[in-house]
Amino acid sequence: MINTQDLERLKEMIRSEGLSFYIETYGCQMNAHDSEKMGGILLELGYRQATDKFGADIVLFNTCCVRENAENKIYGNVGKLKQVKKQRSHMIIGVCGCMMQQKDAAAHLFRMFPFVDMCFGTTNMQELPEMIAGILLDDKRQLNVKYDVQVEEEMPMLREQPPLASVNIMQGCNNFCSYCIVPYVRGREHSRPMKNIVKEVEFLIEAGYREVLLLGQNVNSYGNNSEEENFPKLLEEIAKTGIDRIRFMSSHPKDAGRDMFEIMARYPNICKQLHLPVQSGSTSLLKRMNRKYSREHYLDLIREVREIMPDIKISTDIMIGFPGETEEEFLDTLSLMREVRYDSSFDFVYSPRKGTPAASMPDQIPEDVKQQRIMQIVALQSELTFESNLRNVGKTELILIEGKSSRDPSMIAGKTDGGVMVNCRGDISLVGEIIPVKITEAKKTTLIGERI
Ligand code: SAH
Ligand code: SF4
Ligand code: F3S
Repeated sequence: MINTQDLERLKEMIRSEGLSFYIETYGCQMNAHDSEKMGGILLELGYRQATDKFGADIVLFNTCCVRENAENKIYGNVGKLKQVKKQRSHMIIGVCGCMMQQKDAAAHLFRMFPFVDMCFGTTNMQELPEMIAGILLDDKRQLNVKYDVQVEEEMPMLREQPPLASVNIMQGCNNFCSYCIVPYVRGREHSRPMKNIVKEVEFLIEAGYREVLLLGQNVNSYGNNSEEENFPKLLEEIAKTGIDRIRFMSSHPKDAGRDMFEIMARYPNICKQLHLPVQSGSTSLLKRMNRKYSREHYLDLIREVREIMPDIKISTDIMIGFPGETEEEFLDTLSLMREVRYDSSFDFVYSPRKGTPAASMPDQIPEDVKQQRIMQIVALQSELTFESNLRNVGKTELILIEGKSSRDPSMIAGKTDGGVMVNCRGDISLVGEIIPVKITEAKKTTLIGERI
């Protein structure tokens, strides 16, 4: 812990020099939410928010290492600041997040990039004030990665303006899918106490937020170590706060079931949207991936959820090119996608991650086969998404206006209950309102509507 005297000195220095910060975030929503926490800490220290990284006095790269291409991009972007730092020598450059939690990664980066002033991981961002003090007051580089997960409560947060907010409910992962680095860099599962989560949602309602996204590596493992707290119960308690909309991601098929679906159906403020990553449609491949469910079990879940909520929108993650993936196993994935008729999917090419069991499995799939397979997946999904969007045409949907449309700045945009983005005419003053819109046209990934 930093002592009060140093903290005051640091704050005085930051304020009097009018210093500013910029955070560049990679990876998933959990990382984005961590950046909101770091932003909160920096604001509390007196930093202003900079509009770009080149003019900022402290730049943090919050990194992701789930696939190799994410890592390469980050190395490239950190490297680009070397020249900037030559001209602005007082600038602090920090690299943090999942990439730094890999074995020896932080030490390696520190050696490779001498202009980087600090490296820290996913579990100790609350130590930012002492790390910055170490650099600004004592002129010492900071290498500070920890491996025990501590989930801090009541951290300051720099959130986006209403109406949308993310709320972390659990983090870490105990599943060890054979391809995945996340359990190594995020540590074991840890759930926040239910009462703290409910209190946070109540606070958000008070502050004008209308939709919360509950976050966790596997949200439906929530409370697995406790008798009283579990995910369906948490959903119910949050629904009872009266917040207008609740979404959550990701759910693991092995922990999804009727109890969760029934709570979703019972409360109108729980959005009828389910992200249920399948990865593969082949039972033999799922076994090698250590996913702990079969194709048949997964399809039963989909049947059950649609029986309870016929109009639910279902999305997934698909991975192709896992070691030894045969043509037949690949075709099973295509056929499962057709059978489920996913409304959308995130499609990935398998990327070997050092230290995971799959990285040393025989029969790694050649790059050209991977490319040819991913193209088929993407093509199929875009057909399915378009068909799904067409089914919305003519319907009236309630949409929560989020802001200007990104496709046409004269329009505004917001999501349906099922999570599909709708663009319509309207004034920007409608941001934060939930309005009925008649869907008039389906685009490839979005919808066009008219206010009624
Ligand atoms: N916990 C979530 C997924 C988190 S990671 C779940 O199990 O559903 C998000 C997605 O990244 C995964 O669903 C997977 O499709 C993809 N992914 C993870 N490791 C990968 C790897 N080594 N190569 C390619 N994609 C990967
Ligand atoms: Fe990775 Fe599997 Fe954990 Fe998801 S459940 S984070 S894919 S190990
Ligand atoms: Fe990436 Fe870490 Fe998320 S590895 S996907 S940022 S949990």
